[in-house]
Amino acid sequence: MAFDFDTVIDRRDSDSSKWAAYDGHDVIPMPVADMDFVSPPAVLQALRERIDHGIFGYPDPTESLQNTVVTMLQRDHDWTVDPSWLVWLPGLVVGLNLFTRMLPENAAQATVTPIYPPFLVAPANTGRRLIKVPLRPAAENYQMDMAALEAAFAQPDCHGFLLSNPHNPSGRVYTRDELDALAVLAIKHDVLVCSDEIHCGLILDDSLRHVPLATLSPAIAERTVTLMAPSKTFNLAGLQCAFAIIPDAKLRLRYQRAARGIVTEISVMGMAACEAAYTHGESWRIELIAYLRQNEEALQQCVASLPGISCHTIEATYLAWLDCRQCGITNPHQHLLDHGLALSDGRHFGDPGFVRLNFGCPRSTLEAGLKRLRHAFEGNTTA
Ligand SMILES: Cc1ncc(COP(=O)(O)O)c(C=O)c1O
Repeated sequence: MAFDFDTVIDRRDSDSSKWAAYDGHDVIPMPVADMDFVSPPAVLQALRERIDHGIFGYPDPTESLQNTVVTMLQRDHDWTVDPSWLVWLPGLVVGLNLFTRMLPENAAQATVTPIYPPFLVAPANTGRRLIKVPLRPAAENYQMDMAALEAAFAQPDCHGFLLSNPHNPSGRVYTRDELDALAVLAIKHDVLVCSDEIHCGLILDDSLRHVPLATLSPAIAERTVTLMAPSKTFNLAGLQCAFAIIPDAKLRLRYQRAARGIVTEISVMGMAACEAAYTHGESWRIELIAYLRQNEEALQQCVASLPGISCHTIEATYLAWLDCRQCGITNPHQHLLDHGLALSDGRHFGDPGFVRLNFGCPRSTLEAGLKRLRHAFEGNTTA
């Protein structure tokens, strides 16, 4: 390997929200979705050069940055995008909330559960109603329940759908057929879609490909706000640089109006990192995926040995959604915390009985975490 994913960097005494939360306690934190890896060398170099420039005034995304994103979308996703379709954002959660604000004041929005928690609170942030549509468990992983989605979209006040693809927390990469079926429903019921595709650079199963929803047809493109960023793939979440892709001019204007006075400039450091990551980060990303696959293997082996715990195949992301419903413990999150392992609590995703483990870390950190997982669950089962 040309890049180093094994070295453990101490983040306890840093600005890391994940590690700071447990500073001073004997807890291994594996919740919040960032990785314990240094970003690609080319990104660090670009950041150093930007610092050496020495002036950090108000920015505008450069033509070169916009072209880099457009080139990446063509190269990685076969999507021909005009630079004018891009709306720059500090992050995807901001983008998601702008989408809900753009809808009529009394509009309801649907999403599937379980789901990344900000999806569950974004509509309520501005007093809008959320319609939850549970995913359907299938042999390998979850699937969207099209009949239930149609029933949600058919509600007269339902104007929006919040999609996470690849899906957090399950790691599902939705197929073209599933997305086609979703698009048909959105068009039929005049529902706008916010498609959060932040994890699209992290496909672990190399027989799968990410399909941006908006590439399916002009009809779905004109009702979709796609959100992307280099932040998950290249571990840049603290640099606050993301973008929406909105092909339809009227929809883009509505979205930009919702952002007025709330979202202004994005970070100059984030822009430098974004350009470098998409231009020079590919060899690093390929090695990262290989490393994450081995981490997933180690995790799956451990989980398979534990009675009462299961985890489906993870197609994308560095997140494992662990089903603890058969383990005989009412609050698995607290139980694990009592054993020195902090995971994300499934309750916040709409599914108690589950926990989410982040395996985007050096192997030795993962092994230490798995040791605690084993210790917490061995012998603790009703199964
Ligand atoms: C599906 C999804 N969307 C958005 C985010 C957060 O994005 P941002 O940090 O750009 O707000 C995450 C982070 O875990 C995520 O998993």
